[in-house]
Amino acid sequence: MKGLVLSGGKGTRLRPITHTGAKQLVPIANKPVLFYGLEALVEAGIEEIGIVVGDTGEEIRRAVGDGSQFGARVEYISQLQPLGLAHAVQTARSFLEGSPFVMYLGDNFITGGIHSVVEEFRRDSPDVLILLKQMPDPERFGVAELEQGRVVRLEEKPVKPRSDLVLVGVYCFQPSIFEAVDSISPSARGELEITDAIQWQIDRGRRVTSHLVEGRWIDTGKMDDLLECNRVVLDMLEERREGTVSADSKLLGKVILEEGSEVVHSTIRGPVIVGAHTRVVDSFVGPFTALYHHVLVEGSEIEHSIVLEHTVIRGASKIEDSLIGRDVVIEKSDTRPRAHKLMLGDHSRVSLA
Ligand code: TTP
Repeated sequence: MKGLVLSGGKGTRLRPITHTGAKQLVPIANKPVLFYGLEALVEAGIEEIGIVVGDTGEEIRRAVGDGSQFGARVEYISQLQPLGLAHAVQTARSFLEGSPFVMYLGDNFITGGIHSVVEEFRRDSPDVLILLKQMPDPERFGVAELEQGRVVRLEEKPVKPRSDLVLVGVYCFQPSIFEAVDSISPSARGELEITDAIQWQIDRGRRVTSHLVEGRWIDTGKMDDLLECNRVVLDMLEERREGTVSADSKLLGKVILEEGSEVVHSTIRGPVIVGAHTRVVDSFVGPFTALYHHVLVEGSEIEHSIVLEHTVIRGASKIEDSLIGRDVVIEKSDTRPRAHKLMLGDHSRVSLA
């Protein structure tokens, strides 16, 4: 069995972060979200993995390499344009070479791994096995309708959902999926939809089964969901203290200090992760915050946020619920006029108190 991880796409919902980087590499508790998926595949015994990449391919290649750090053999498949999940499958045809495979969306996160799903797929050999999760707001997702355990209909973002079971971004396919992806036409948004390819198979009497995900599932394609995912993972991590803490600092609850980090005259209320060579000086860092590597937080208060590498936050009275990119500088200014002075990239979002 092979793995196919989708790490191309447009990432419009995560602009401006995705103007300069791959959304699949945004760190969740200081580890790129893509890495959790790769680990889940290897843990389920899938070591031959193809990663579909688009414009951000170089960055993904640099981060994942040949896959040996995960115990996998990784090949890269270039998708010249993000024309849909089913198009990504078509693009990977020669890599998959008639093998059954697990397709994993590179920005999706699930707890509890996929071992049991892959086992079920191996044992039962349906044409397609989809993962489903009960959600309170199914209209935001692809929704499945079941009859006696069999999937009878899939609908993408329905106005009136027929169930609360939504499609999670992990799918198991037999090579028969190729006939389906070659037979469908682009949807109204111009993409070859994987839901249409699965529906095509259902309509021809092929066996499409489902597996209910018990753990958490988060599609990290939007900022709120990224922060939520960061919260979930920080809650699960074990404490590590590889940094230094001054005697006048206070660490409360679970605080993970990565190598070379420094906490000086500050209070940190966990769960929090402070990345390698990151410094927290004269500050308060509150629960569910992940500061990535080489960050400086000085004279500031921050909580429930993700801060990417090489960013400086100095003299900020309170930052909350925020995703802050790389090499960003946020600082208090004493020059007049007293005003917010901003230099923001295209599609930035700022909420002023
Ligand atoms: P989506 O999040 O559905 O699409 P997107 O990346 O274009 O994002 P947005 O809606 O914000 O513009 O994609 C799910 C995953 O699949 C994600 O990791 C990107 C990847 N993908 C591809 O690799 N190729 C594609 O053609 C598409 C549409 C997505």
